[in-house]
Amino acid sequence: LKAVILIGGPQKGTRFRPLSLDTPKPLFPIAGLPLIQHHIAACAKLQECKEILIIGSYTTTQLAQFVNDMQKEYHVIIRYLQEFTPLGTGGGLYHFRDQVRAGNPSAFFLLNGDVCADFPLKELWTFHEERPSALVTIMGTEATRQQSVYYGCMVREASTKAVTHYVEKPNTYVSTLINCGVYVCSLQVFQTMAEAFQRKQDGFYSANGQNSPHPGYMSWEQDVLAPLAGTNKLYAMQVTSWWSQVKTAGSAIYANRHYLELHRPQQPATPPCHILPDVFLHPTATVDSTAVIGPNVSIGAGVTIKAGVRIKESIVLSNATIHEHALVMYSVVGQDASVGEWSRVEGTPSDPDPNKPFAKMDNQPLFNSDGRLNPSITILGAGVVVPAETILLNSIVLPHKHLTRSFKHEIIL
Ligand code: GDD
Repeated sequence: LKAVILIGGPQKGTRFRPLSLDTPKPLFPIAGLPLIQHHIAACAKLQECKEILIIGSYTTTQLAQFVNDMQKEYHVIIRYLQEFTPLGTGGGLYHFRDQVRAGNPSAFFLLNGDVCADFPLKELWTFHEERPSALVTIMGTEATRQQSVYYGCMVREASTKAVTHYVEKPNTYVSTLINCGVYVCSLQVFQTMAEAFQRKQDGFYSANGQNSPHPGYMSWEQDVLAPLAGTNKLYAMQVTSWWSQVKTAGSAIYANRHYLELHRPQQPATPPCHILPDVFLHPTATVDSTAVIGPNVSIGAGVTIKAGVRIKESIVLSNATIHEHALVMYSVVGQDASVGEWSRVEGTPSDPDPNKPFAKMDNQPLFNSDGRLNPSITILGAGVVVPAETILLNSIVLPHKHLTRSFKHEIIL
């Protein structure tokens, strides 16, 4: 078995700004681990999985250190394959098909790099093997009718679970069973992709390239999955466990909470301060014993937390400093940022229903219909300095800004 993780490139992830300005989004830490390390851990857990290919258009330099570290940690071959230009969710996979096919693996997993889940890969693979005609098995989950249109929607044959109809982000309601961006594929899928690629090429040249950003561009969902529906080669396994996308910084807070819950990080035998689980505390963080941290907080390497600080439902990135008696909640504090004494950095998210496996914090527009900023969390970019006794509520501060006053519902450029 092999696995392929699609991570896009710097052109993507715009809704994740300003957090993606300093760190490529796939490496943004959620519950103490880079976003795609959760994928790698899930793949490496499966002994049969011998190689992981990461495909995207970030430069190799941006990923090299991470790939090296991951190989050492998980003892599995991991390679980063860089697309010369974004080729879409199918184009990159097709371009690097020989690397996927090399060694003739019995199947390969395909994972969107921006989803979070407990990745039931073993179950997915078994489900796939039980259906010999399957070229692709999709992991699906139930969404609300309203939410479903933002995802790939599937209609299944009740007894066989074969997908009879697939529509990517339909304009009107199709089905509440949505595509989670996690698949297991047989190698023969490359034959289907070759046919799709040929159709794309014909279309590209007859339209003089008008309808495609690049002749090698291919959408996995529209060009491969949709035509496979109704052929008995596409199946969907429905899961009820937690699943979510990470598109916005708000969804990072939500994912952080759930990955913490899933992994339940071990607390040090003598906690450095009052901890309300779940909390990930990097061993190199310096925390005053009077601070209170949690629940659902991740504290990165080299962070300093001073006396009387209160942090909940937040991510504090490496080397940030939270000064005496400051409060941080529903926020992301960027690396090297500083929050002054007695300041409050706050968001007020409308939480997704905790009983639903499906997150609805995504797809919120950045601005409300009345033109007001919509994020329900506060984000401090890297190196931002918040002075003492300042309040920041539901605001986004771009990197390296030194604030001089309080802000509410604003983007501070
Ligand atoms: N290598 C590479 N090249 N990866 C890409 C490219 C590309 O040109 N474009 C997108 N990706 C990666 C993204 O980084 C992301 O991890 C994944 O492919 C999905 O890409 P999006 O284009 O952002 O699609 P989406 O998230 O809106 O929708 C997809 O995921 C949903 C589940 O999260 C679809 O598969 C939907 O059907 C699905 O419901």
